[in-house]
Amino acid sequence: MKKNYIICIGILCGFLSISCNTSSEEINDITTNTVTTNNGLDETIESKVDSLLAIMTIEEKIGQMNQYNGFWDLTGPQPKEGAAAKKYEHLRKGWVGSMLNVRGVKDVKAVQKIAVEESRLGIPLIIGFDVIHGYKTMSPIPLAESASWDMAAIKKSAEVAALEASAAGINWTFAPMIDVSRDARWGRVMEGGGEDPFLGAKIGVARIQGFQGEDLSANNTIAACAKHFAGYGFSEAGKDYNTVDIGTSTLNNIVFPPFIAANKAGVKTFMNSFNVLNGIPATANKMLQRDVLKGDWGFNGFIVSDWGSITEMIAHGYAKDGKSAAEMAANAGSDMDMESYLYVEHLANLVNEGKVEERLIEDSARRILRVKYELGLFENPYKYCDENREKSVIGSKANKEAVLDVAKKSIVLLKNNNKLLPLKKEGQKIALIGALASDKNSPLGSWRIAADDNTAISVLEGMQQYKGNSLVYAKGTDVSIGNTAFVTETKINTKDKSEFGKAIKVAKEADVVVMVLGEIGFQSGEGRSRTKLDLPGVQQELLEEVFKVNSNIVLVLNNGRPLAIPWADAHIPSIVEAWQLGSQSGNAIAQVLYGDYNPSGKLPMSFPRNVGQVPIYYNHKSTGRPTEPAPDIVFWSHYSDQENTPLYAFGHGLSYTNFEYNNLKIKPKNTSANNPKITVSIDITNSGDYEGKEVVQLYIRDLFASVTRPVKELKGFEMISLKPGKTKTVSFELNKETLGFYNNEDQWIVEQGEFEVFVGGSSDKTITSNFELK
Ligand code: BGC
Repeated sequence: MKKNYIICIGILCGFLSISCNTSSEEINDITTNTVTTNNGLDETIESKVDSLLAIMTIEEKIGQMNQYNGFWDLTGPQPKEGAAAKKYEHLRKGWVGSMLNVRGVKDVKAVQKIAVEESRLGIPLIIGFDVIHGYKTMSPIPLAESASWDMAAIKKSAEVAALEASAAGINWTFAPMIDVSRDARWGRVMEGGGEDPFLGAKIGVARIQGFQGEDLSANNTIAACAKHFAGYGFSEAGKDYNTVDIGTSTLNNIVFPPFIAANKAGVKTFMNSFNVLNGIPATANKMLQRDVLKGDWGFNGFIVSDWGSITEMIAHGYAKDGKSAAEMAANAGSDMDMESYLYVEHLANLVNEGKVEERLIEDSARRILRVKYELGLFENPYKYCDENREKSVIGSKANKEAVLDVAKKSIVLLKNNNKLLPLKKEGQKIALIGALASDKNSPLGSWRIAADDNTAISVLEGMQQYKGNSLVYAKGTDVSIGNTAFVTETKINTKDKSEFGKAIKVAKEADVVVMVLGEIGFQSGEGRSRTKLDLPGVQQELLEEVFKVNSNIVLVLNNGRPLAIPWADAHIPSIVEAWQLGSQSGNAIAQVLYGDYNPSGKLPMSFPRNVGQVPIYYNHKSTGRPTEPAPDIVFWSHYSDQENTPLYAFGHGLSYTNFEYNNLKIKPKNTSANNPKITVSIDITNSGDYEGKEVVQLYIRDLFASVTRPVKELKGFEMISLKPGKTKTVSFELNKETLGFYNNEDQWIVEQGEFEVFVGGSSDKTITSNFELK
């Protein structure tokens, strides 16, 4: 299809018109031998991008930097005026590089067809979507999955998400979110890997590998996006979108590590963030985007803004208007404008005025085109648009099995006194209580845009499959009223106790009571911060009333963040953290309750005793004062009304069996700080009655350093499986990557001095030894 167009650019920036003579086949018709350059780029792709850029107008290059949200019934009649009509017009002009929230083969094909067949150069769109924890078959929310500490399972879950999303026309996910987060009030903790940078980095990499696979150009893999760069997890007071003010050491040693790992793992895109970081919005932050990410780290992919984050710089009080916001964002290295409409409106003029250099536009367009070539979109723009594949892949049996597997592994046994769990499979009268127990919607969690409502297996359905016991259900109270997607306090904090009586009655007659309490699926997520971390509504009162008639309670928590449940911890014998576990939630919970899966999860975030302790995290620094009262100390570092420790520590999680840790060995005990190699080994014995899995955790403390170091830092973990009575030796190696840190001059250094080593099944239950670097 030869095209010979006169392009009128007057609409954008003046009266210039040029003539071009190009065919889209010519652009693509270059053989695909892969030769890599010394910076890891594929030379064939680079030369294709060069050829394409050479024939693109400045407006077309800027077009690649423009991303629009899905806007209309794509397969219906096209509007003649309004915002949607304008988007159609821009697509035809080649002024749109990407769309988000267009999904399903029919719609993606329709929009891609306009870009490919009706624009001058026919450059395909990259189609983005928030595939956060699954597409339609939902995995556990990311925080839950992180509790598995099982990288193979996490990778598999991302693979399934990519499989389904790619079958629905999508080729780019805005995941993983790898913001380290220490504040349970922040609703978006549900979307990340928790409070630890080491664990967070491993999880981020596993998810990127799952999404992108071995071959990004295959039709079942999609580009990943490391977000939000940077500091979003440190929003003040846990309020979403809030200011972030953190020092160099925290930025380098806590915030950056998962992003460094993501870049090393070859993530194709980054997303910047809504927040202001130390006075400069991340979107216009040149230090973050150009100097660190694209400069020091050599990132070759592209950076997309967060939704409208370019325009939000006006409200931040940083940009005086849309034009200056576009100028600042482009100059700082934000390559693609998500829904601010500002690049397409202002960048060409800004280039003409000399305020944005053309080479920067070219660099952004190059990065975006590179990823499109890598995805294979130029070879076949419709490769993700196979209706048969869409029908057979989405919701398949294999996908359901995969998400069930990761759901089981995400459950954390917080407490199990008197061996109340696992439940006996026969002859028991079980009362199941709580509105969340029969809820088929809530387990799907936040960020499940393509999932059909009410499609999760509820706990009630899961437990009904165990037929040897009698099971009666009473909801006790509602946890929400009406449409829960837009939660308001009045909707979720119902005070209605009229159903308490029925719940108390069934509890009285039961051998064991299983109570499913917590947050609904939309109580966490974006824009859903809370100032309270207790059980919402009258659920706490329900728990206490039921306890009065039957104390044999198994409390199953559903939540998207750590909750503060001190009363439950003091009174309830068994507590199971079951988060929001996705489509197979009820099956996973039932299998754990009945012992068909022995719980193996460990907390990726500390659980506070009350909200006043937040932010609370295990890898804090030491103060100059003791944390316990001492004879000569009048003022020590503590709260006068609460303990310093969390209710449940980072890394905590029990099993139906017991694990004993012995024989901690460190070799050598002294070595040079120059390229050290230390081996830490430990024997773990299963001293209980069940076969089980344990996550063996290794922490260190650098006792004296030129920049103070945390009291504990995770530096290794391994999941092992042991039969009763068996012992296994686990070894870890510590080296310059794990023993060093960034100083405040951004250098990675390993310092001489004494180190403590801690090994155990939780950050607060370890055995210790030490070594010295000389
Ligand atoms: C969120 C991003 C998300 C984007 C697109 C924003 O509000 O912060 O994480 O990817 O919307 O949906």
